[in-house]
Amino acid sequence: VADSRIALADLASEFFDHPTRRLKLAAVTGTDGKTTTVHLVSDVLEAAGERTGFATTVDFKQVGHVWENETRQSTQEAVEVQEFFAELLVAGGTWGVLEATSHALALRKLRGCEVDVAVFTNLSPEHLDFHGTLQRYLETKAELFSMLARSADKGVPKTAVLNADDPRWRYLADRAGGARVLTYAIDAHADVQGTILASDASGSRVRIASAGASVEVPLPLVGRFNVHNALAAAAAGLAAGATLAQARDALARAKAVRGRMERVDCGQPFSVIVDYAHTPESLDKVLGLLRPLTRGKLIAVFGSAGERDRAKRPALAEIAARHADLFVLTQEDPRLEDPATILAEIEAGAVSAGKKRGSDYLVIDDRREAVAEAIRRAQPDDTVLLAGKGHESSIIVGETKRPYDEAAAARDALRAVGFAP
Ligand SMILES: Nc1ncnc2c1ncn2[C@@H]1O[C@H](COP(=O)(O)OP(=O)(O)O)[C@@H](O)[C@H]1O
Ligand SMILES: [Mg+2]
Repeated sequence: VADSRIALADLASEFFDHPTRRLKLAAVTGTDGKTTTVHLVSDVLEAAGERTGFATTVDFKQVGHVWENETRQSTQEAVEVQEFFAELLVAGGTWGVLEATSHALALRKLRGCEVDVAVFTNLSPEHLDFHGTLQRYLETKAELFSMLARSADKGVPKTAVLNADDPRWRYLADRAGGARVLTYAIDAHADVQGTILASDASGSRVRIASAGASVEVPLPLVGRFNVHNALAAAAAGLAAGATLAQARDALARAKAVRGRMERVDCGQPFSVIVDYAHTPESLDKVLGLLRPLTRGKLIAVFGSAGERDRAKRPALAEIAARHADLFVLTQEDPRLEDPATILAEIEAGAVSAGKKRGSDYLVIDDRREAVAEAIRRAQPDDTVLLAGKGHESSIIVGETKRPYDEAAAARDALRAVGFAP
């Protein structure tokens, strides 16, 4: 065969009898917010009486049953994807919701997935080592929207749900080949319009308006980007036939995804938040949103993974230098790279930002020790952000996975300074 990945995907859909010709399917792509948005889309569809399943970086769900994704792949190989949807149909599922990474699209893992609703969150220059240029990265994501025109009719109007606050939405709309386009936005005018009425450390109060109706949602997720994620989910829900009221009900009881702005509370008088942010853009967003919510010092702990996007390393430290009072550079999946080299590359950004090692920032290779030191230094009203590991259950050093749980490391450190869960 000319392309074995295409052949494998075609064999897989044939073998499992094209499950997504019967199962309705929503898929979410974009640089950030995919996992959270998949969860929220599933919540909204369930509030509309659908039986859903999903596959994300963090976990899988098949109707009532949820389990951890231990594969470290956000999107599985074509065979697993098709098998997953075949099983979801057997379990009585009516809608699948899929996290569609650009890697997966480029590697044809989603060939044979017949998508009804395709959602775009945003685009920023991550993964450029793999995709080359931003344009190619955008084209890869656009593939998901071209898939709309090729999928079977399941009685749901094929819809591209696009973030009109990201200027690339028009390019994706053009690629959606006749599918309906439903935009959502906070700043730009959009079909599904969000207005942030209030926000604090526990979440935002949001008005969502669409087609002349509106609802007010107490969204229990922290940060403006979660408002975008919620709007994307509301729009996807509307595209799938849910009502605005059903979207409101689902979003009002949404839970943080594990490792996404997840609070670790052992009764300490300062905040500890575990978040998966590992791109300069997401770190900037998270620190930028925590800054005004923090009365004391803002302390950040992070690293940068080995064998991945090296260009972002100094940028991470420059961003921390801009927002944080203290930051701790540490290990994050060095893989076969030398951890000291990675740390030096990040540190270059701190140095160029004029920061002094020892007072403005620390370098502690051992991640548990870095977390413990940040927590030892925290005072009442401070916020400690532990960024980059999120839900992951290991650190990859060389070719071995060493067990690691950031929230557990934080709880251990809190216990060591006298706070018990
Ligand atoms: N819509 C968004 N825009 C920008 N950053 C986001 C958005 N949603 C979440 N984030 C940030 O990115 C991190 C990853 O979120 P996640 O939902 O897991 O996205 P993905 O699956 O695309 O990696 C979060 O912890 C948060 O810091
Ligand atoms: Mg993800």
